[in-house]
Amino acid sequence: MHFNIITLFPEFFASVLHCGLLGKALEQGMITIRLINPRDFSQDRHRTVDDRPYGGGPGMVMTLPPLALALRSLEEPGRMALLCPKGRPLDHELACSLAGEQVVTLICGRYEGIDHRLESLFPVETISVGGVVLNGGETPALQVVEAVSRLLPGFMGHQESFAEETFVQGLLEYPHYTRPEVFEGVRVPEVLLSGDHARIAAWRRKESLRATLELRPDLLREAVLKSEDTRLLRALSQERPRVARNCFLALVHAPVLNKFGQSGAVSLTNLDIHDIARCSRTYGIGGYFVCTPLQDQQQLAARLLDHWLRGPGAGANPDRGEALRLVRIVDDVEQASEAIARHCGQRPLLVATSAREGGDMTFAQVRELLEDQSVLLVLGTGYGLAPEVQEHCSGTLRPVRMLSDYNHLSVRAAAAIILDRILGDEG
Ligand SMILES: C[S@@+](CC[C@H](N)C(=O)[O-])C[C@H]1O[C@@H](n2cnc3c(N)ncnc32)[C@H](O)[C@@H]1O
Repeated sequence: MHFNIITLFPEFFASVLHCGLLGKALEQGMITIRLINPRDFSQDRHRTVDDRPYGGGPGMVMTLPPLALALRSLEEPGRMALLCPKGRPLDHELACSLAGEQVVTLICGRYEGIDHRLESLFPVETISVGGVVLNGGETPALQVVEAVSRLLPGFMGHQESFAEETFVQGLLEYPHYTRPEVFEGVRVPEVLLSGDHARIAAWRRKESLRATLELRPDLLREAVLKSEDTRLLRALSQERPRVARNCFLALVHAPVLNKFGQSGAVSLTNLDIHDIARCSRTYGIGGYFVCTPLQDQQQLAARLLDHWLRGPGAGANPDRGEALRLVRIVDDVEQASEAIARHCGQRPLLVATSAREGGDMTFAQVRELLEDQSVLLVLGTGYGLAPEVQEHCSGTLRPVRMLSDYNHLSVRAAAAIILDRILGDEG
């Protein structure tokens, strides 16, 4: 496989390309690399390669004429990629797809970047190596060369050492250990010394799933999982329900807004009680408070709960009872907060929810808060929470559909989406 690297700093690569497995692959001719400096194609006597940005602003921009000449000088540019922080993140899938090419040309930017017209004039894709800005595209290019080369047959001593690596199966790899068996009092896991290959394989799979669940749960969305894996993941996730148990929901029926923008009360809805309780149980949260100061409504809710918790419903559908057991009927958010304080030893942070613009808290921020404290997510019925309830809260969560001009989800749907964004399996 051949790489062309377009760079203003060819000397950058002098040593790094020649050590370890990459050096060996170059020596053996498994990969070849040509470094091309656009400065060699600059046509003014100062060999200029940059200029001031149109529109003003700080820094310089790499100019197109020398770069275009450099690219056009290539006999076979193959697949062309510009290293750029805005690009497609470099991952295993992208590395595999590049490894299928004969020739790849990597273009390294410097300064503020390259004149954007490069992307209209040449068929370049963009690749980023992470959500950080580096001084130039040279280290990113090196990452691409290394990630791609090690996928080439014969690059690694043992081809199988790559089959189980992090990301290859969509999971993080299990931990490795080597001699000595005990170091500074820390032992190698016993199973690895057992010589029992089946047990070792099972342990490694479990540790790989554990690491992925803890460190990169987002990978689970695409990972290929067997039913045994899902069972293990479920068991592993039972080990850490603390964050979910810190989360509580309150569904406020008064004071909420009516369609004229006035504060008032709305009736309970059977569906809201059932469905939000089922969501609450599914996501393992600490409790679900149905808030209404109206006595007849409270009695209605109590009768409903009684049917499913103690009456005929309890025998007919115990699963429903398990969900509805999380429901508490209270007058208002204040009573809900007091109940949480009694239970957790600390008043919860109140976070309002709204379909309207203006929410300032992100789902990730709430997830982070839950690590250390209880949070009561306050949902409204009718036309949303009355201002007096909202003012009582420490913040308002962003609307679920921030970009839509039609935002009329049922509160049940909103509760489900909000819980999934905060506590979903893929974190
Ligand atoms: C200082 S950076 C330019 C940053 C640019 N002004 C911005 O804010 O996006 C100079 C060059 O480094 C390379 N670069 C920097 N960070 C990168 C990253 N995370 N992934 C890939 N390339 C990167 C690109 O080639 C970029 O043109």
